[in-house]
Amino acid sequence: MKHLNIVLLGATGSIGTQTLDVIRMHADRLSLVAIAVGRRVEEAVSIANEFGCSHLAIGDETCKDATALSQLPETVHVGFGAQAVDDLVELEDVDVVVNALSGAAGLRASYGTLACGRTLALANKESLVVGGDLIMPLSTHETLLPVDSEHSAIYQCYLGESPEEARRIWLTCSGGPFRGYSRDQLASVTRDQALAHPTWNMGPKITIDSASLMNKGLEVIEAHHLFNVGVDDIRVVVHPQSCVHSMVEYLDGSVKAHLGVADMRIPIQFALSYPHRWESPAAEIDFTKIAPLQFFDPDLDTFRCLALALEAGRAGGTMPCIMNAANEVAVASFLAGECGFTDIDAAVENTMGAFDAEKVESLDQLEQLDAEARKCAASYLKAL
Ligand SMILES: NC(=O)c1ccc[n+]([C@@H]2O[C@H](COP(=O)([O-])OP(=O)(O)OC[C@H]3O[C@@H](n4cnc5c(N)ncnc54)[C@H](OP(=O)(O)O)[C@@H]3O)[C@@H](O)[C@H]2O)c1
Repeated sequence: MKHLNIVLLGATGSIGTQTLDVIRMHADRLSLVAIAVGRRVEEAVSIANEFGCSHLAIGDETCKDATALSQLPETVHVGFGAQAVDDLVELEDVDVVVNALSGAAGLRASYGTLACGRTLALANKESLVVGGDLIMPLSTHETLLPVDSEHSAIYQCYLGESPEEARRIWLTCSGGPFRGYSRDQLASVTRDQALAHPTWNMGPKITIDSASLMNKGLEVIEAHHLFNVGVDDIRVVVHPQSCVHSMVEYLDGSVKAHLGVADMRIPIQFALSYPHRWESPAAEIDFTKIAPLQFFDPDLDTFRCLALALEAGRAGGTMPCIMNAANEVAVASFLAGECGFTDIDAAVENTMGAFDAEKVESLDQLEQLDAEARKCAASYLKAL
């Protein structure tokens, strides 16, 4: 197999650092040539030095004078701002871009990676939620590899099958820390409670999305684009053990499921090793030690974010962009202690009600709508 040169966007984050583990373990097959981070400059410099990266992009332009930058060799090219991050995907001799940025900020990088013929290993689900109509026509089965564990599972359940012979997708969901809560209980949960996810250790934004079940709604829209399946043919099922990572049900009643330990390094590595499989740093599964596997319907009345995301997915066009922008603003506000947990879905619902779904035409159109929806959600939250 060819040695792969990798660009890693979001190298200091949860997916980013687990991707570094995979690259360390397979240094004979994988090289890290460039990284992008938001503002954690010290960590970025240490990663660039360890892996001998030639390029480093720092999203936050106010980090230009960070003293840690002096520890880089002069040969390393350092850029600042969103454009510098997006430019990395076009560097010469790059094979794969791992997009592990958080939020809609990853949209242009996903689009640019596929537009210039590179393979995209995609963790940044928001870019597909917002821009799937523009991104998917640029991709093939071999050039867009999902990193999200559920979508990696579904991708693997489809291998060797004819997609038109599938009846539906079953998307599993841990249920998050508030599974079984009433709407009243949900209204008074704290930031620390919401950040304590029972099975996965992730960045703050996706952890809050997992607690509100917005993450599952984003994943339904992501699966709709990746596998060309209608939103109503994707069923969410709560599975607290997070052992079955997702399933595909076929016309003859057969169901293929993907199982494994809850370790993101498995789907990250699969996106880099495909079509092969390599030894993994993850622990091995022991079926005799797994508690009985349970499956429940999600509670859409309590977890309104999931219901709203499904509504946005059905509406299609620009509605998922509007929904996602409102959610990003509301989650940031909740994390900053400025609003309550159920204000997140209220802000999303209010913002969705203020816009009509239009046909997706361009990245510029999406970015303009994203900015307008953010303003709308922020003013709703300010008025509370
Ligand atoms: N974590 C998981 O287990 C998991 C599982 C499935 C899917 N995902 C998806 O993967 C993506 C990343 O999640 P995560 O949990 O790894 O997030 P995270 O821990 O918050 O990491 C985000 C990374 O992106 C960087 N970043 C943020 N904004 C940036 C910007 N404007 N320009 C450049 N870099 C920027 C951050 O840099 P700084 O640290 O320097 O600020 C950090 O390296 C999300 O879309 C999430 O939904 C995550």
